[in-house]
Amino acid sequence: MTAGALALAGRHHFIAPPAGTEKVRMRIKKSQDLSISILDEINKLIYELRPSLLDDLGLVAAARWLAGNNLETAGIKVDFKTVGKEKRLPSQLETTLFRVIQEAVTNITRHAGAKNTSISLQFKRSLIRVSIKDDGKGFDVEEAITSRDRPRGLGLLGMKERVELAKGTLSIRSRAGYGTQISIEIPLKQAVDNW
Ligand SMILES: Nc1ncnc2c1ncn2[C@@H]1O[C@H](COP(=O)(O)OP(=O)(O)OP(=O)(O)O)[C@@H](O)[C@H]1O
Ligand SMILES: [Mg+2]
Repeated sequence: MTAGALALAGRHHFIAPPAGTEKVRMRIKKSQDLSISILDEINKLIYELRPSLLDDLGLVAAARWLAGNNLETAGIKVDFKTVGKEKRLPSQLETTLFRVIQEAVTNITRHAGAKNTSISLQFKRSLIRVSIKDDGKGFDVEEAITSRDRPRGLGLLGMKERVELAKGTLSIRSRAGYGTQISIEIPLKQAVDNW
């Protein structure tokens, strides 16, 4: 036996687990798994909760908060602006837009590697237009949307669905190396009639 093997054998003997340790390890593993799934649940609940910020202060303040809380906290610059006269929208529509901006912002922090972003909310008499732009690495939109690996039903497809339910349109322009721009347009009159 070589010296190294001897040392290993000795060490192995020294740390050999006492009877029952494997059971304890399994229990720890189980409770770790449980904590992780509880955390996932909590995160889901928080995500689903309609933030009172949105009810109380409206979409613009809530969108500003999202940008500050996610992007700026991650060290990404935000150029935030509104165009036109800000007004409160039907609450379902505000929720839709809030969720879409939330997903876009989350995607930027998670995937884009961006330094700068710009978010604009344009209020017109008959429509609202939201644009979220980043100068990150960009991606192949077609591929991302048709990917079958989408068990959670959130993400880009969820955004599109939410916007289409509100009779709006969502377009994503992205190119590897050139960043991403998401534009959403929702007609207001029609939305008001339908909600
Ligand atoms: N702003 C972005 N910059 C770069 N890549 C992006 C951006 N937004 C999305 N992507 C790419 O598109 C893919 C699909 O995004 P999508 O939001 O649908 O899913 P996800 O973020 O991976 O998961 P989740 O379901 O949690 O949202 C991402 O995995 C990422 O590769
Ligand atoms: Mg996503």
